[in-house]
Amino acid sequence: MGRGSGFGKTILFGEHFVVHGVPGIASAVDSAAEAEVKKSQKGINVTDERSGAKGYAEKKKLQQLESIERMLAAMSMDPKKVAIDIWLGGNLPGFSGLGASAASSVAIARAIAEEFNIDLPDERINDIAYEAEKAYAGNPSGIDNTAATFGGLIWFKKNMGGGSNTIEQLSIREPVEIVIGNTGIVANTKAMVAGVAERKKQNPEKYDAIFGQAEKLAHEGRKALEEFDLRKVGELMNENHRLLQEIEVSCKELDYLVDLAREQGAFGAKMTGGGGGGCMLALTPGKDLQEKVASAMEDEGFKVLRTKIGIQKG
Ligand code: MEV
Repeated sequence: MGRGSGFGKTILFGEHFVVHGVPGIASAVDSAAEAEVKKSQKGINVTDERSGAKGYAEKKKLQQLESIERMLAAMSMDPKKVAIDIWLGGNLPGFSGLGASAASSVAIARAIAEEFNIDLPDERINDIAYEAEKAYAGNPSGIDNTAATFGGLIWFKKNMGGGSNTIEQLSIREPVEIVIGNTGIVANTKAMVAGVAERKKQNPEKYDAIFGQAEKLAHEGRKALEEFDLRKVGELMNENHRLLQEIEVSCKELDYLVDLAREQGAFGAKMTGGGGGGCMLALTPGKDLQEKVASAMEDEGFKVLRTKIGIQKG
């Protein structure tokens, strides 16, 4: 049997803008998807036992199968001839926006490689997971699979010319508590990404100005993280959320959770990932603030994840 895992992630700055070449910052969270792969008799059979994944897994089933076929093709295997049983689990909840699809793709690619005795460096796993991500995101930037493969805190810039993307590991003084709040709405990342591209085409002036602000914000966010100025990081996250509202990828449930987190004292809050549902992220340094914000969301009936950004990988 082959085994593999992939990190969950949260985007601190730049989701959607990264698809168009603006830099973004993502952090792995301390939860991962795990996969086991066994050669079998017929077809590709997936058993998805990720926690909280029921609705998520059902809605994403077709995209998941397409992603596995893409992955096999990227590994020079014929999806029609491969017979494997895949088990998915791990402690990364199946929330939209936490990079669950990329984490599972990385886990599955690693498990397939082990089961078929193929020696693949992380760079190749990342490329294979990127191919798989196309099934979920249509035209992904690559930030999710990069965070899922390498972990850590990542500065990411897509190379719009098709060459290698810029990937830098950032370091911060110490890990910082965050709360991920889940709207409970399973979002369609592919539709959200396509919607932004369409609106950008229709309103180039408006969108170019917003994209310019997002670029500036990513650089300021990097500086604030490296200087460990968490108040500033929070302010910039708030600003990032405003830009995401302007490009119409937030929704009332995300805005509600963002406002709630800020009222409870979060240093900053924003949606994270594709939007249109899925998750938001609140910066809540210290266990007490994290607990306050998390339980306020739980009291309103939302599911949350208490985790940290900036955890060193390994
Ligand atoms: C999804 O987690 C992040 C998006 O920017 C899509 C992508 O970068 O591939 C919305």
